Amino acid sequence: MSADIQKQTAGLAAIDHIRDGMKVGLGTGSTAAWFVKAVADEVQAGMTLTLVSTSVQTAQLAKSLGLEIKDINDVGRLDVCVDGADEIGPGLSLIKGGGGALLREKLIWEMADRCIVIADAAKHVPVLGAFALPIEVEPFAYKGTINRVTDVLSEFDITKMPILRKKSGEPFVTDGGNLIFDIACGEIHDPSGLANALKATTGVVDHGLFLDLADIALIGTDEGVEVLHP
Ligand code: A5P
Repeated sequence: MSADIQKQTAGLAAIDHIRDGMKVGLGTGSTAAWFVKAVADEVQAGMTLTLVSTSVQTAQLAKSLGLEIKDINDVGRLDVCVDGADEIGPGLSLIKGGGGALLREKLIWEMADRCIVIADAAKHVPVLGAFALPIEVEPFAYKGTINRVTDVLSEFDITKMPILRKKSGEPFVTDGGNLIFDIACGEIHDPSGLANALKATTGVVDHGLFLDLADIALIGTDEGVEVLHP
């Protein structure tokens, strides 16, 4: 089965966790897009939901499907957020941000009572770090920030330099106007320590390590949906 079909399987399965009247955060990426489509079908069929988005991209998709997206500041706490991931490691530790939406994703996740991660089977890994870890960086004085990040990485025996993400030859700019740097960490043996150290680095707005945030994972496999708990 292709990864695309597994993403579809996981994305559509998440709709079983949505009930009428819920406040729902919509994730970003190709797996989350399947969930957004399932939400649109339910709303079309009469379900009432209050929806917020983790990115401009997802908001555009939702609106194209006839859904109304609210401002998170007008909604407050959410019942649930459903979003994809780039890697799912032990305890449902995650790497996210492959689509460059990590900051707004984390802001929405932290406002949700329950976070559901949806992914194809290849995303489930024994150790995080094969996927390059994205960090979101304030553009002002970013070279100094990256020097500090490099020092932090060396404390964790990570020797690869952060790489500025580009799109069509130009620096990729996030919805919040920041830069993304990708770090080829290799195996991350102390995700919590690395997360804390990156978070404490001036100029790093946030990082793609999502730790102790996911409550359940729905993994699309060739046999159906595998459910994982922390
Ligand atoms: C967006 O910034 C990411 O966190 C995505 O959720 C992640 O990259 C998964 O994307 P796919 O579902 O497209 O694989």
